[in-house]
Amino acid sequence: MRSSSVLLGVVYATSAFALDNGVGKLPALGFNTWNIYQCDYTADVLLAQARAMVDTGLVKAGYDRFMLDDCYSLRQRNSKGRIVADPAKFPHGMKNFTDSLKSLGLRAGIYSDAGYQTCGGFPGSYGHEAEDLETFEEWGFHYLKYDNCYIPFDSVTQENVFGRYKRMAAAIETRAVTKKQQPVQLALCEWGWQSPWVWAGRLGQSWRIGGDIRPWWSALASIINQASFIATETHFYARNDLDMLEVGNSDGLGTPPGNLTYDEAKSHFTAWALLKSPLLIGSDLTNASQQTIEILGNTDILKISQDPAVGESVAPFRWEYSWDPVHPAAYWTGNSSYGVVFMVLNTYDEPRKMSFNLTESWAIRAGREYSVYDMWSHTRNGTAVRDITLTLPAHGVAALLLNDVGPEPEGIEPYCAGYWQCSYPNGTYYSN
Ligand SMILES: *[C@@H]1O[C@H](CO)[C@@H](O)[C@H](O)[C@H]1NC(C)=O
Ligand SMILES: *[C@@H]1O[C@H](CO)[C@@H](O)[C@H](O)[C@H]1NC(C)=O
Ligand SMILES: *[C@@H]1O[C@H](CO)[C@@H](O)[C@H](O)[C@H]1NC(C)=O
Ligand SMILES: *[C@@H]1O[C@H](CO)[C@@H](O)[C@H](O)[C@H]1NC(C)=O
Ligand SMILES: *[C@@H]1O[C@H](CO)[C@@H](O)[C@H](O)[C@H]1NC(C)=O
Ligand SMILES: *[C@@H]1O[C@H](CO)[C@@H](O)[C@H](O)[C@H]1NC(C)=O
Ligand SMILES: *[C@@H]1O[C@H](CO)[C@@H](O)[C@H](O)[C@H]1NC(C)=O
Repeated sequence: MRSSSVLLGVVYATSAFALDNGVGKLPALGFNTWNIYQCDYTADVLLAQARAMVDTGLVKAGYDRFMLDDCYSLRQRNSKGRIVADPAKFPHGMKNFTDSLKSLGLRAGIYSDAGYQTCGGFPGSYGHEAEDLETFEEWGFHYLKYDNCYIPFDSVTQENVFGRYKRMAAAIETRAVTKKQQPVQLALCEWGWQSPWVWAGRLGQSWRIGGDIRPWWSALASIINQASFIATETHFYARNDLDMLEVGNSDGLGTPPGNLTYDEAKSHFTAWALLKSPLLIGSDLTNASQQTIEILGNTDILKISQDPAVGESVAPFRWEYSWDPVHPAAYWTGNSSYGVVFMVLNTYDEPRKMSFNLTESWAIRAGREYSVYDMWSHTRNGTAVRDITLTLPAHGVAALLLNDVGPEPEGIEPYCAGYWQCSYPNGTYYSN
């Protein structure tokens, strides 16, 4: 643990800035209160969710954070200017709440806003950055989601959105240095308004890429489309945040009422995990179906999300169209410590046969054959030579791990995976 050295602006081989200050190297895994409760909760209700995370095995699977979203405080600061936890919601105080989480193996995260008020109308941290940070840390929180409502006039801030968010990032850095302790992890929630993937890595460890998620397919497809064009901006310490999970919000559960099918929930989880977004559960775990727990607890897929050696996410290798919120990119690939990853999405409303050539993935070696592992059925599915064809259900997904098992059988045509310029040693073209 690097508690006393705070390094800023470590630049990776990608052009993106990543803030390696010792926290948030991998995507955060946990629970967030908003998608279920919005403002309607108490500490008791939330601790029941936290206990359900333990009981369902999700804490063991890696979900080790619990994020309190908006509406935890009184509407007014106290006479010392401090945010006050709502005693009706937290009758034993906030420290008691985070200590209770800690005893369940969960690290606590909280929420505030870069403007005058939070989106729910509670005190925002604009102009109170350092003292609010102190309050949050005294309460036992180590992670801050930072929202974008109630923006002060330009004549007041004389700053762009970058400058408004930088105020909290600077407070975090100052406090970590003076206290010689780990900085609070900062999750920017600017809704993708000003392309935060370009600049937010200088300030925090993740940034929302769009507006609030909804528990139905068209909303998920639209987020996947947006993410497909900026997938390469994700790296260690710097994550595109596709927003909280809606897995489990089927059959009218969730707020607003959700209608995700089993296949849609699987596609949702697969895309969020393999794109290495934070994975914050947003459904009622005290009443979760076995299917929901199996999706959220898919260790094959979580292992890729939490890969300690590969920071990049999957990215599309083929778009069927370009910008299309209804039919986002269907064919994705990336590397991992466990093999080459493929994600294939059927964005259509009916089952569909889908196929790709292995060498469409940059990480595959031509002229080799690969063992295929299916990360949903958790089975080895034989050996692939040249291509893979799948039939996927409506809005379904395949998540595959391929490993090189040697040269492909001799004599397979064409002799080059690409058509043009393929040549015999004597300079005669094989094709063209
Ligand atoms: C929280 O407060 C209650 C009531 O005082 C107490 O019973 C409980 O032990 C406290 N929990 C922790 C973790 O401090
Ligand atoms: C799911 O809910 C959304 C929002 O109410 C609606 O637009 C969509 O048609 C629903 N989908 C199905 C398959 O019922
Ligand atoms: C529990 O889940 C079932 C379906 O999964 C749903 O019908 C029921 O309303 C839920 N109960 C509560 C209290 O949320
Ligand atoms: C994929 O990542 C692993 C683990 O870091 C590495 O050993 C391997 O060389 C990478 N493969 C490619 C094609 O970059
Ligand atoms: C896949 O490979 C075949 C055989 O070389 C070729 O005809 C086809 O165009 C390739 N498809 C794609 C999408 O690259
Ligand atoms: C892999 O095999 C399993 C078991 O037969 C099957 O359920 C699954 O659909 C297969 N996966 C693919 C991608 O074909
Ligand atoms: C080059 O080699 C290929 C394959 O052996 C042969 O078919 C072709 O005729 C040769 N070209 C010349 C110009 O010798």
